[in-house]
Amino acid sequence: MAGSDRHSRSQDDLHRNPRDLSHSAVAEASPTLRSLAAERGLLVGAAVNVSALDRDTEYGEVLARELSLVVAENAMKFRYLQPQRNRFDFAVSDRLMAFAADRHLQVRGHTLVWHRALPAWLEDGDWTRAEAMDILKRHIETVVGRYRNGIIVWDVANEAIAADGTLRDSFWLRHIGPEYVEMAFRWAHAADPEARLFYNDYGGEELGRKSDAIYALVRSLRARGVPIHGVGLQMHVRVDAPPDATKVAANMRRLADLGLEVQITEMDVRLPQPAAAKDYEQQGEVYRRMLRTCLQESGCSAFVTWGLSDRYSWVPGHFAGWGEALLFDERYRAKPAYYELSNELSDLPK
Ligand code: XIL
Repeated sequence: MAGSDRHSRSQDDLHRNPRDLSHSAVAEASPTLRSLAAERGLLVGAAVNVSALDRDTEYGEVLARELSLVVAENAMKFRYLQPQRNRFDFAVSDRLMAFAADRHLQVRGHTLVWHRALPAWLEDGDWTRAEAMDILKRHIETVVGRYRNGIIVWDVANEAIAADGTLRDSFWLRHIGPEYVEMAFRWAHAADPEARLFYNDYGGEELGRKSDAIYALVRSLRARGVPIHGVGLQMHVRVDAPPDATKVAANMRRLADLGLEVQITEMDVRLPQPAAAKDYEQQGEVYRRMLRTCLQESGCSAFVTWGLSDRYSWVPGHFAGWGEALLFDERYRAKPAYYELSNELSDLPK
């Protein structure tokens, strides 16, 4: 992949891959992020709250107009898909898949193995290693198998590394051991050989202890022939402590040099509440710098925000005193961040 032109490669992929949209979306009168990004060979997406999608038609309209990719904010997490042992519930995730198919949106799958969002029956059970392996294998086979051909990228492993660079303590590490990561990738690949399989994490966007540990993990997986195709950089950031674009670029490049794709998977830029006018401007600049970094690095294939509008966002509930982290306000009015991204996509490639 090193040295290849991402833009021409992505255009080729659009024609080769039957899952891809090609450019089947109706051309919009005024350019949308979706249409501008398609010209640059980039997917643009957001995490979707499916219950909001069910009742708020404007939400669905703006999503489908502006974006080319969606990811379930919660609906594809273990606890929701397998609420009882071997009893899968796909009702909510199927609705998102149907919406995506109807509106010609790609889907990222999120997430197969994670230390959070596990059901009580699993966490409270008393399992042998073989049983835990069997549960994870069946979960992955069932979920990935169901959406085979419908999901372009799976976040196979999410947040498996701790801040100090060691494997994070988790149900899976305790019950299976460090091999659980590799096993999850192999099982996912067997269930859908076409899906791109990602390792996804936060706090490893730049260079540093955690991103070095992520790099070492994925390099070792690649070296051993484990089917891994990319790394997701979550990018949940504060407006006053944005990532250093030069370091993010260097990190993306070293991952691309391993033959891996990179995606910005969960970006949001939170503002102190109440926010001042300058905060919205700075937020736009932070978004724009990260989009530019992605556009300039050949391995970066998608730019995804963790939500669409400030009407539905995890930020106020998880970071007290912070909010307004997304591209649209609570009334779906485009914020400066939206226009910064639009302008960046409209600029000629540098
Ligand atoms: C968050 C959701 O946005 C919340 O609604 C939920 O309560 C907790 O999870 N990293 C991830 C996402 O990979 O799955 C998390 O999503 C945000 C952090």
